[in-house]
Amino acid sequence: MLTDILYQEIKELSKEELLLTIEIPKNSDMGDFAFPCFKLSKVYRKSPNIIAQELAGRIKLTEAFEKIEVAGGYLNFFVNQAYFVGSVIREVIEKKNDYGRSKIGEGKNVIVEFSSPNIAKPFHIGHIRTTVIGNSLYKIYDFLGYNTITINHLGDYGTQFGKLIVAFKKWGKEEEVKSNPIPALLKLYVKFHEEAEKNPQLEDEARMWFKKLEDGDEEAQVLWQWFRDVSLEEFNRTYNMLDISFDSLAGESFYSDKMPKAVKMMEELNILQKSKGADIVDLEEYGMPPALIRKSDGSTLYITRDIAAAIYRKETYDFYKNIYVVGSQQNLHFQQWKKIIELMGMDWAEDCIHVSFGLVGLEEGTIATRKGRVVFLEDVLKRAVDKTKEIINDKNPNIDNLEEIAAQVGIGAIVFQELSNNRIKDYTFSWDKALNFEGETGPYVQYTHARASSVLRKSDIEVTADIDEGVLTDGVTLALIKLIQQLPEVILDAQRKNEPSIITRHIIDIAQAFNRFYHDHPILVEDEEVKRARLAVVFAVKQVLYTGLYLLGIKAPEKM
Ligand code: ARG
Repeated sequence: MLTDILYQEIKELSKEELLLTIEIPKNSDMGDFAFPCFKLSKVYRKSPNIIAQELAGRIKLTEAFEKIEVAGGYLNFFVNQAYFVGSVIREVIEKKNDYGRSKIGEGKNVIVEFSSPNIAKPFHIGHIRTTVIGNSLYKIYDFLGYNTITINHLGDYGTQFGKLIVAFKKWGKEEEVKSNPIPALLKLYVKFHEEAEKNPQLEDEARMWFKKLEDGDEEAQVLWQWFRDVSLEEFNRTYNMLDISFDSLAGESFYSDKMPKAVKMMEELNILQKSKGADIVDLEEYGMPPALIRKSDGSTLYITRDIAAAIYRKETYDFYKNIYVVGSQQNLHFQQWKKIIELMGMDWAEDCIHVSFGLVGLEEGTIATRKGRVVFLEDVLKRAVDKTKEIINDKNPNIDNLEEIAAQVGIGAIVFQELSNNRIKDYTFSWDKALNFEGETGPYVQYTHARASSVLRKSDIEVTADIDEGVLTDGVTLALIKLIQQLPEVILDAQRKNEPSIITRHIIDIAQAFNRFYHDHPILVEDEEVKRARLAVVFAVKQVLYTGLYLLGIKAPEKM
C-alpha cells in the first residue's frame, strides 16, 4: 500500500527495498508509518531533510492516509484508520494462505543445504539447529516464489569409513548393528581409536580400506552401503517426526567421481602446491591456513568434496543462491572453500552463502540418554511429546486425537525454541528450557491459534470481507492490525537475512496483541455489525499465525 505510493516518486529503490525501509514509529505521534530518507541522501546528493520535504510535496496520498508530516529526515505517514483497518482485513480474508506470499523469487533456483548428519554417528542435539533453521529457510524461500532444492549433504565418505570397515571386520557383530545401528557403529568407531592408540598400524589399515572404497572394491562398497542404509533408517525416524524431507540426498560420497575433474582444474590453474607429497592450496595471502586438497596417498578430503559439490550444483541447478546451513565451527572451512572457488575463477562464488549458527552446548550435569554424553535428537522430541501428553491430559482429557496433537505441540515447542534466538548466538541446551511451555513459546502461539479457531467455530455467521471497519479503530485493535499488515515485510526481511527468528518474534507479538484484543473485546456480541467486524479480525489473526508457524515448520492444531 505505502510501498506503491512511495514507488511512484522514488524509482531509485526497488519496491522490496522500499518495503524494508518503512518503519513503525514507537510513538504514534510520529505517525503510523515512517520513511527515513537517509538512504536516498547518497542517491540524490541532498540532505535527508530536504529530500523529505520535497517528497512530501510530491507524494500523492490515497484514501488510506490522512496526512504526511516531515520530521528531521523522516516522512511520517498518518493512516486513515478505518480505511487502513478495512483494507488489511479484507486482503487477508481474500488471500488466505496466500497472504504474504510473493513472486519475487520467480525463475530463480535456490539450493538450501541443511541437516547433513554423518553416517554411523549420532543424529544429536547439535544437528537440530541446522535441521530446523534449514527447513524454515526452505519454506520461506518457497513462499516467496523461489524454486527451491533441498539437499541433505550426508557425511557418508572419508577416512572414518576406512576405520569403520576395519573395526567391523575385526570386532563387529552383524546382529548388533542390525538391532541398534548407530550406537553399535559408534561403539566400533570408539573401539578403533582405543586400539589404534596401542597399535598404530591400524591407522594404515584404515587408510588402505578407505582407498579400496574409493577405488570401488566390492567388499568395501557393500559394507559402506550397509552402514549408510541402516543409518539413514534411523535418521528418517527423526525426519518423519519433524515432517522434513529432502529433494536430494547427494552426500559427500556422491562427489567421489566428480573430484578428479575439480582437482585437475586446480592443477591447470596452478593453484595447487606440493607439500610433503600432498597437494595444498596456500591461502597465507588471505590470512588463512593452507587447505589440504589431496593427501600423499591420493585420497581426498572434506573440502575437496565441497569444491566438487559446488561446481556440480552450479552445473546442475544453475543456482541463484546456494545456501549452506552449517554451524560456526566450520566458519574457517567455508572461508577457505569459498576463496578457492574464487581463485578457480568461478564468478558465482559470491552466490554461495554459508548461513552460520552458534554452538549448542550441553548444560553442566545434563543427563544424556543411553550411553555417553550425547543427547539424541529423537529422544528430545519424544520427551517433549510425552510431556505434552501429560499436560493435555490434565487440562483437556476428552480431546480427540491426543497423540497427533501432542506430537504437533511437543515437537513444535522444540522447533520454536530453536528458532527464537538469533541464529548466530551460541546457546546451551537444557531439558528444563526445552520442556518449558510457559511464556513466549511455541505452545503459546499454537494455543492462541487454537483459541481463535475455537471462536470461529462457535460463531453462527460466516466471516466475509464485508465489514464495517469503523468499529475497529480503537488503539488495541489498531495495534494488532498493524502487526498483521507487517507480516509480508517481516517474511521478506527474514529471507534477506536468512533469519527465521524474525518471524518467530513477530508471531509472538501478534499472539500477545491478539490476547489483549480478546481480553478487551468480547467477540460474539449481540450487535451484528460489531460481531462481524471482530470475527473478521479473529479470522485474520488465525490466518497469520498459521502462516507464521507454517514458515517455521510448525503445525497449527485447531484444538488443544
Ligand atoms: N556432515 C557435516 C557435520 O555433521 C556437515 C556438512 C556440512 N555441509 C557441507 N557442505 N560441508 O559436521
